[in-house]
Amino acid sequence: MSEPSQLPNPERTPLQAIGGDSALRLLVQHFYDHMDLDPEYALIRALHPPTLDSARDKLYCFLSGWMGGPPLYVEKYGNPMLRARHLPFAIGSRERDQWLACMDQAMRDLGLAEPLRQSLYNAFYSTADWMRNKPGDLPEAITKLHGG
Ligand code: HEM
Repeated sequence: MSEPSQLPNPERTPLQAIGGDSALRLLVQHFYDHMDLDPEYALIRALHPPTLDSARDKLYCFLSGWMGGPPLYVEKYGNPMLRARHLPFAIGSRERDQWLACMDQAMRDLGLAEPLRQSLYNAFYSTADWMRNKPGDLPEAITKLHGG
């Protein structure tokens, strides 16, 4: 039997469930620290600029709104148009999987309860999969659109 706080609670936003704003800051910090330092994420690290400061702030702001908290990204940077903003970077299944592994590592670092980690992983998967933009390695919805 799970602790009451670990049961799915539709009245709590994902941001509240992970522990609020300070937990989100920590999640993003761990995510980019892993990307920066762990050789298994070298492929996606190489797509980023030498300094990750701006990426850290943008991901933190974006995830705040994405997890049901204040829409900081929209307030500061405007419409996310996330897929369009990723088009300059060649993203296929390998890049997606490294991004997800890095985020999964960060979620495990925070010690998130298992059902919560799994449901966030599934949501991250959908968003990350939608970022794929390599010819021959596109999201299923786009392949179907072009009759492929
Ligand atoms: C699928 C694999 C992904 C790769 C390889 C990737 C890579 C990148 C790169 C290289 C940048 C530019 C960083 C910079 O210029 O400082 C970026 C920006 C960003 N990424 Fe990703 N990303 C991925 C998935 C995601 C996902 C799933 C999310 C959200 C859940 C996300 C959120 C963002 C945000 C908010 C920005 C800043 C956009 C801007 O304002 O320019 N990314 N990403």
